[in-house]
Parts: sequence; C-alpha cells; structure tokens
Amino acid sequence: MNTKSEKNIIVELQDSKEAPMDLLELADPSIDQVNKYLKHGRCFVLKLDLDIIVGAMVLQENSPDKIEIKNIAVSEQHQGQGFGKLMLNFALDFATKSGYQKLTIATGNSSIGQLALYQKVGFEIVDVVKDYFIRNYSEPIFENGITCKHQIVLEKDILA
Ligand code: COA
Repeated sequence: MNTKSEKNIIVELQDSKEAPMDLLELADPSIDQVNKYLKHGRCFVLKLDLDIIVGAMVLQENSPDKIEIKNIAVSEQHQGQGFGKLMLNFALDFATKSGYQKLTIATGNSSIGQLALYQKVGFEIVDVVKDYFIRNYSEPIFENGITCKHQIVLEKDILA
C-alpha cells in the first residue's frame, strides 16, 4: 500500500534488510528489539520528493483485531514539519483498510513530545507497564531530564 502527498510518498519495503536502521534506532536504542519486530512486522518509509528517505515506521499485528506501530521515526533535520503526523495518519488509514479495530502505540514515560503528539492525533492512554524499560533495555535511557522507566501504552479505536 502506498500513499502520496504531493511529492512525498509512503511505501512499504519488500525486504526488511533495506530498512533504514539509522532512523529506526532514533526511536529505539535496542538493535535487538528493532531486528525482532522487523522480522515479524512490515516496514514503511516516507520518501521526500519521491526519493530521499526521511521517515520510517514498522507496523506489526498483535492479534486479529489489533495492529501496533512498533517504531516511528523522522530524521532529525526533518522533525517538527508534520511528517510524524503524516505517518501516524497513514498507519491509521492502513489499519482501517486492513480491517483492524484498534491501533496501538507505546512510548516511555520520559517521551513528553511523543505523548503529546500521539494524544493530539487521537490515541488514548490505556496501560502503564511499570519498569518496562528497566527490565528490557541494558542501558539506562534519559530524556527531558527524566529517567525512562515505564512503558505508556496508547490506543486508538478504529471506527468502522
Ligand atoms: N508538547 C506539546 N506538543 C508537542 C511537544 C511537546 N513537548 N513536542 C511535540 N509536540 C507536538 C507538536 O506541537 C506537533 O503538533 P502540532 O502539529 O499540533 O503543532 C507534533 O507534536 C509534532 O508533529 P510532527 O511535526 O508531525 O512530528 P515529527 O515529524 O517531528 O515526528 C516523531 C514525531 C516522534 C516521529 C519524531 O520527532 C522523531 O522521529 N523522534 C525521534 C524518534 C522517536 O522518539 N520516535 C518515537 C518513539 S516512541
């Protein structure tokens, strides 16, 4: 599935070996985790002017009615220009057309901007997994002067 917005296009990669790891690692410092969901999920890239990859996203089915955005990232020099929202709306459209009932995304307690963005596009917090990042990541993560400890799970209902 592809979507176009003027000269920007979101395309699915047919081979996960082509995934832009530099972008995916911006969102997830664990290469092991990234490789795990790249194996089971579907990787999409956002190409600017039909050519330059500035964003990446991995979607993975969790159950027959739920799909999750396992990773979403925009290159640092292109952040804050609406590309993240574009990819989130693409994921929503993809989930709707594929017949899922819920779209999930998770982030850390320290990811203040991401929590704002996801709620702005309609995701709601449904769960907090205590100490998730302490248990699953070998290196400590700090952001916005906060230690990233807990996973915040957000969901958006897909209206039929
Ligand atoms: N408070 C309130 N709103 C905030 C905010 C904050 N601290 N930080 C960001 N936002 C809002 C912006 O105001 C904007 O909303 P608006 O359009 O209503 O003004 C929105 O978030 C940003 O939208 P957009 O420009 O589409 O996002 P982006 O292209 O920068 O992409 C990310 C967002 C998270 C994908 C991108 O910043 C990124 O790749 N970050 C590094 C990787 C990462 O953290 N990925 C997610 C892991 S969970």
